[in-house]
Amino acid sequence: MARILILFAHPALEKSRVHRRLLTRVPPGVTLHDLYEAYPEFDVDVPREQALLLAHDLIILQHPFFWYSTPPLVKQWEDLVLEHGWAYGSRGTQLRGKWMINVLTAGGRAAAYHREGYNRFTVRELLAPIEQTARLCGMHYLPPYVIHGTHSLGEAAIEREADRYAAFLSALAADEYDLHALAPLPELDLDRLPPAREAAR
Ligand SMILES: Cc1cc2nc3c(=O)[nH]c(=O)nc-3n(C[C@H](O)[C@H](O)[C@H](O)COP(=O)(O)O)c2cc1C
Repeated sequence: MARILILFAHPALEKSRVHRRLLTRVPPGVTLHDLYEAYPEFDVDVPREQALLLAHDLIILQHPFFWYSTPPLVKQWEDLVLEHGWAYGSRGTQLRGKWMINVLTAGGRAAAYHREGYNRFTVRELLAPIEQTARLCGMHYLPPYVIHGTHSLGEAAIEREADRYAAFLSALAADEYDLHALAPLPELDLDRLPPAREAAR
């Protein structure tokens, strides 16, 4: 079983329609850590965060897309937690071999996130600083899992997204995906993924 840590960052969870629903479906065994709940004053507890990272294999940054990026507490978390000599540098090897992925919701539709589209870049391109940060720390980066067009999602569609996310998390936890095969994709589109294989028994 892969040990999964969700680092969740939403500064206004009380107004959220999509993440609030996704969180209710996180399977048992997956660690959910709400950064804004833990650090409303941005006073990130570095030893606690580093211990959490060490105890997991796959780190999910789950957040809404804000100005083509993450909410600011994720940046604060990176600045403080990913220390030289711990996460990177010649003696900073603690995160080597782990996996990182962004799971995000975006108001913009999928068609807008293309070279010829309204937003001119793909979501993966826009998240390049996080991908490169993960690589600098010796981690593997999975393509982003994006729920697009949130403003036009009705209740039933949000429920379907929550079902899909729950199934995705369960399959990840059971090592059902060949992560190295997924890594080059521009985005993790669950409708187009190779089917999760039977977990090795
Ligand atoms: C400050 C702010 C910035 C935003 N920036 C973007 C953006 O750059 N791209 C985008 O597609 N949506 C953007 N949105 C829309 C949010 O991503 C969207 O409302 C959110 O993902 C919906 O999830 P929720 O229901 O869990 O809040 C932005 C929203 C806010 C409040």
